[in-house]
Amino acid sequence: MDRIRISGGAKLNGTIPISGAKNAALPLMIASLLTDDTLTLENVPHLADVELLIRILGNHGVDYSVNGRRENQEKGYSRTIHFTAHTIVDTTAPYELVSKMRASFWVIGPLLARMRQARVSLPGGCAIGTRPVDLFIDGLRALGANIDIESGYVVAKAPKGLVGNRFTFPKVSVGATHVLVMAASLAKGETVLENAACEPEIVNLADCLNLMGARITGAGTPTIRIQGVDSLSGARHRVIPDRIETGTYAMAVAMTGGDVLLEGARSDLLETALDVVRRTGAEVTQINSGIRVTRNGNGIAPVDVTTEPFPGFPTDLQAQFMGLMTMAKGRSRITETIFENRFMHVQELVRLGAKISLSGQTAIVEGVPQLKGAPVMATDLRASVSLVIAGLAAEGQTEVNRVYHLDRGFERLEEKLSGCGAVIERVSV
Ligand code: UD1
Repeated sequence: MDRIRISGGAKLNGTIPISGAKNAALPLMIASLLTDDTLTLENVPHLADVELLIRILGNHGVDYSVNGRRENQEKGYSRTIHFTAHTIVDTTAPYELVSKMRASFWVIGPLLARMRQARVSLPGGCAIGTRPVDLFIDGLRALGANIDIESGYVVAKAPKGLVGNRFTFPKVSVGATHVLVMAASLAKGETVLENAACEPEIVNLADCLNLMGARITGAGTPTIRIQGVDSLSGARHRVIPDRIETGTYAMAVAMTGGDVLLEGARSDLLETALDVVRRTGAEVTQINSGIRVTRNGNGIAPVDVTTEPFPGFPTDLQAQFMGLMTMAKGRSRITETIFENRFMHVQELVRLGAKISLSGQTAIVEGVPQLKGAPVMATDLRASVSLVIAGLAAEGQTEVNRVYHLDRGFERLEEKLSGCGAVIERVSV
């Protein structure tokens, strides 16, 4: 299994191109199930999760082709991909596939809306919390679906089609909002979703669906209105830049010092997180070609954060920010409110010399002057990259094991960092 080996201490200087957002690409790809026409997506990142979803969609009958594919040249770079679900050949999403990636559960929305039935495995356990599916089920029931749980599968039927309704999410959920927006696009009449997720990825999906002929307003606010249409057509649409990748590299620069242009990044997608990075002492400026992050001289100031749904500080940057705070000049408190078990990186950061104690959902980080390299391992995607950030600043060598987590969500990580002067390599063992 591959490892990432880092010799810490180098400042980061140069340009890092920001990839298309994984969390926008996945629901957009799933939206291709809503039409028998071709949906063309530009700027799709080359990631393990995207490849897995291509396989899962293929199982339902989605054909795909990659623009001008030249294997070696394009390997690892964002691509334009055409998806065509001319005929849905199977409305079952089996456990073997859904259990590998939770977002594949979201096929339930388009399958039910277009085929009037879907049988989708429950996603099962997940390292960062229980992550139930009750909001999806309640929402789809509100649109008139009959739903039963049978042998670990959610069996959903709407023989006469879905019917628009008003539904208030009892809790903000990105995935359940994606699914309800997709399902309601092909329902009869109007759907009003209240307390919907406001994440930029929801806006990116709604913009795409509108290009396909849907009638959605209010995406990006807590109230989304959808006038159902009879059918959707193909479209060509671009995946937004990855705000989590952007924030991750901004924090890496704040950690090591240096001067990096995050090319193609958009600060409007992560204002709160960038503001927090500024308060730690880095300079962050939006310029035409992207976001420039610099930190020279001064140390890292401690900042308290609490994760919240958008536009708050994202849970997907919590681990990385904790990595940065391990070397702050003082104490910071990091509170996780979205997932109940998302502190698995704490023990590994402690192996690098960090001083962190946990009190319920809050981590108290006492900054230390210097981390020291060590072998570490992480159990989820964002936790793994927090160890990379810490390793970049640690003295000596850090080896991050279980690199497949990183490959799920970070395109060409070692190449992007070494291009800015980091001493980082992938080692196959
Ligand atoms: C998405 C992101 C993930 C991010 C998360 C929160 C993708 C592919 N993944 O995940 O990277 O960390 O948003 O920003 O976009 N919940 C329920 N019942 C449900 C559904 C969710 O209780 O039916 C709870 C979850 O357990 C969690 C909270 O709601 O505590 C938010 O989860 P949700 O927004 O649904 O996360 P995902 O869409 O799975």
